[in-house]
Amino acid sequence: MRSKVTVVGAGNVGATTAQRLADAGLADVVLIDILDGIPQGKALDILESCPVSGSDVRVTGTTCYDDTAGSDIVVITAGLPRKPGMSRDDLLQKNFQIVDSVTRQAVERSPDAMLLVVSNPLDAMVQTAFRASGFAKNRVFGMAGVLDAARMRAFIAAELNVSVANVHAFVLGGHGDDMVPLPRYSTVAGIPLPELLPEATIDAIVRRTRQGGGEIVALLKAGSAYYAPSAGIVEMVDSVLNDRKKILPSAAYLEGEYGVNGIYLGVPAKLGAGGVEEVIEIGLSDAEKAALDRSAASVRSLIAKIGLDA
Ligand code: NAI
Ligand code: 2OP
Repeated sequence: MRSKVTVVGAGNVGATTAQRLADAGLADVVLIDILDGIPQGKALDILESCPVSGSDVRVTGTTCYDDTAGSDIVVITAGLPRKPGMSRDDLLQKNFQIVDSVTRQAVERSPDAMLLVVSNPLDAMVQTAFRASGFAKNRVFGMAGVLDAARMRAFIAAELNVSVANVHAFVLGGHGDDMVPLPRYSTVAGIPLPELLPEATIDAIVRRTRQGGGEIVALLKAGSAYYAPSAGIVEMVDSVLNDRKKILPSAAYLEGEYGVNGIYLGVPAKLGAGGVEEVIEIGLSDAEKAALDRSAASVRSLIAKIGLDA
């Protein structure tokens, strides 16, 4: 039997994710939103592309959670973008309410699902879904690191004029301005980046990676990135559904790993049929550890604002 994936939020990220899932034939897809007509219309449009792409999956759109029952994975992309006059804290509170509510409705119908959270601010929203679901930590995780690492990989490949297939990039920490790209763990055909590029070039790539989301927003003006984010989501969904056990940078719940306790943070994690099957710990220099601690402190302060720090 085919797997079933629900995508909550039929906006840019949700709809593009649904399309990629359908194109890959990975699962039957249910797209759900609060705006009646949007998920139904986008799902029908995607379904009508399947004869051309050669995919036999079913794609449906709905506003009713009963249609999501029995999902294997629920991808949560619902949320508001920041609007004029709205502070980051306002956005945090609004998206906290949305993610809390959609999680409760989804898990009631799919008690055995995995939850893959995408809504921002990412690390705090995964924490929200974790608490609202009551699920074990391995079944709730977040996508951001695959996106941040993909951006860094694209910049490295362009700088060196090599195939992206040769490039691995390593990014730790929260999905914010203080994320921690690690050049010495980033490699091209196994060669550490510092052996291939001068420090100033690496610093510029690290800065551009950190500001990658903002660079897209500045260009698009209305809205944020969705092609690369949806590619990241689908890689994580594929690793779980097909039990690939890929090690991917994921927002995972930490209980002492990297000296961090009780919060979600971006770390390398093995993703398979059991969800987050293992958090991989690597050695950090004092400067790298200090940068990770700063990133963890930012995530912790967001979580405190929505009362999930206790
Ligand atoms: P969008 O505005 O295009 O779509 C959001 C959708 O959520 C809208 O269709 C809206 O109607 C829906 N929605 C709002 N409240 C809902 C509810 N209670 N139930 C169901 N649906 C609801 O935004 P976009 O571009 O799709 O981004 C979605 C979220 O993903 C944002 O929070 C964004 O910041 C985040 N994001 C995170 C990334 C990451 O790396 N973690 C990357 C890109 C975006
Ligand atoms: C990004 O990094 C908006 O979080 C999103 O593009």
